[in-house]
Amino acid sequence: MSVEIRDIADSAADQDAWFRAVYTGFLTAEPPSPEQLAERRERSDLGRAQGAFDGDRCVATFRSFDQELTVPGGGVVRADAVSGVTVTATHRRRGLLTRMMVRDLTEARERGDVVATLAAAEFLIYGRYGFGPAARTAEWRVEKPLTRFDQRWTLPESEGTVAFVDGAEVRKEGPAVHERFRRGRAGAVDTVSMYWERLTGEVRWGPDAWKEPFYVLFRDPAGEAQGLVVFDVQDAWRDVQPANVAKVRKLFAATPAAERALWRFLLSIDWVSEVRTNDEGDPDALLPLLLPNQRAAATLSHADLLWVRPLDVPAMLTARRYSASGALVLDIRDPLGLSEGRYLLEVSEAGASCVPTTRSADLTLDTGALSALYLGDASAARLAAAGLVDADTDGAPDRADALFRTGRRPWCPDTF
Ligand SMILES: CC(C)(COP(=O)(O)OP(=O)(O)OC[C@H]1O[C@@H](n2cnc3c(N)ncnc32)[C@H](O)[C@@H]1OP(=O)(O)O)[C@@H](O)C(=O)NCCC(=O)NCCS
Repeated sequence: MSVEIRDIADSAADQDAWFRAVYTGFLTAEPPSPEQLAERRERSDLGRAQGAFDGDRCVATFRSFDQELTVPGGGVVRADAVSGVTVTATHRRRGLLTRMMVRDLTEARERGDVVATLAAAEFLIYGRYGFGPAARTAEWRVEKPLTRFDQRWTLPESEGTVAFVDGAEVRKEGPAVHERFRRGRAGAVDTVSMYWERLTGEVRWGPDAWKEPFYVLFRDPAGEAQGLVVFDVQDAWRDVQPANVAKVRKLFAATPAAERALWRFLLSIDWVSEVRTNDEGDPDALLPLLLPNQRAAATLSHADLLWVRPLDVPAMLTARRYSASGALVLDIRDPLGLSEGRYLLEVSEAGASCVPTTRSADLTLDTGALSALYLGDASAARLAAAGLVDADTDGAPDRADALFRTGRRPWCPDTF
C-alpha cells in the first residue's frame, strides 16, 4: 500500500496518530496518554504539520512554524522553523523525509521566509536539503576548587541583585528577559508556545520524571530583570565533605553584568563543588574568563546544533550588519535549486545591498557554507582551507572574513 502524505491541521484523529508517531520516532516506547494527547493537540501549532499515513497509522511526522532568528547587529529575519521530524523505523529510507522537507521548503520560499532553521539531531541528515551548521552549543564543567574563585564573593548591591524565585515568577518575568536576551544575540530565536510552562514544570510532556529546579533572577540596580538561571543540584558527599553538582538547565542574560553575576553566583554556592551545564550551553560563555584559573572550566562537548537554510539570499544578507565595508561576489550553489545564483554583496557605512549579478565570482560556496558564515560562526579562510568554499579571486576568503566577523559567537540556547 502506498504511503499518503497529508496535512493534519483539521483532523483530531490524524493529530493523535501524529503525536503517537512522534513518540515512536523519537524512540519513546510509552505512548502518550489520552490526556496528554488532548493537551498537545490543544496547545501545539499544527497549522503547517504534515503526516505520512500507511493506512490509519502515521509513520512519519514533520511540522514547521513561523520564527524570528536574530542576526548579527540585532536585526531579525523571518524563519521557517522545522521541528517534529520523525520517520518510524519500519518506514525509514524510503524518501518520506525528503518528500515532506522539499514541500515545506518550497512553500516557505513562496511565502517569503528568508531562511529555514532547525535543531539537528545528527550531522548527516540535513546538508542534502541545503542546510548548514550555523551556531554551536557547548557543555561546560567547572571544578570549583580549581577555579581559585574568591569564596568571599557576594554581589555588590551597586551591580544588582540575585534572588531565588518560583516557577510562577519565572513565567511572569522570564519572557521579558528572554526577549531582551534573544534580540541581542545572533543565533537566538523567539520562544515556542509552552516554553515557559515546560521550563517550569507546569506542563510536562514526555515520560521523564520532573524534578523541580531552582530559579534565580538577576536584576540590575534599577530593578529590571536581566538574566535567569535554572538549575538543579545533585546531592553528593565525599569524605564527609559536601560535593554537590549544580546542573544548569538554562542560563541566559541580556547584559554582560547579568551574565557575570549569574556565573559568579553559581560558583559561590556553598556545598557545590562542581557546576555543569547541559550540552546546550553557550559556546562563547564569559565563564572561563571570569575564573582566576581559566583551566578549571572544561568544555565536555562542543558541537553544531542550530542549522540554517538560505531561502532568500538578498534578504538574508542585507538583514545583518558587517564588520567592514567592501564588496564580494558570491556564487551560491543550492542542492535543491531554491536559492541558487550569483549575488553581489556590497557593504558601506550606509548599509548593505545584495543583488543578482553577472560579475565573476569571488567565492563559490553552497548554501550550507553560507549558513556557516552567516551568523559569524565559521571563518571563510578555514572553510576554504577545508575545501568547503572555493576562492575564485586572491584573498577572497580573508575579505569575506573581514566582512562577516562578529564580536561574539552566535548561540541558540533553545531547541525547538
Ligand atoms: C532522520 C529521519 C527523519 C530520516 O528519514 P527518512 O525518511 O529515512 O529519510 P529519507 O528516506 O528521505 O532520506 C533521504 C536521504 O537522507 C539520508 N539520511 C536520512 N537520515 C539519515 C541519517 N540519520 N544519517 C545519514 N543519512 C541519512 C538517506 O540515506 C537518504 O539518502 P540518499 O537519498 O542518498 O539515499 C529518520 O531516520 C528518523 O526518524 N530518525 C530518528 C529521529 C530523528 O533523528 N529525527 C530528526 C530530528 S532533528
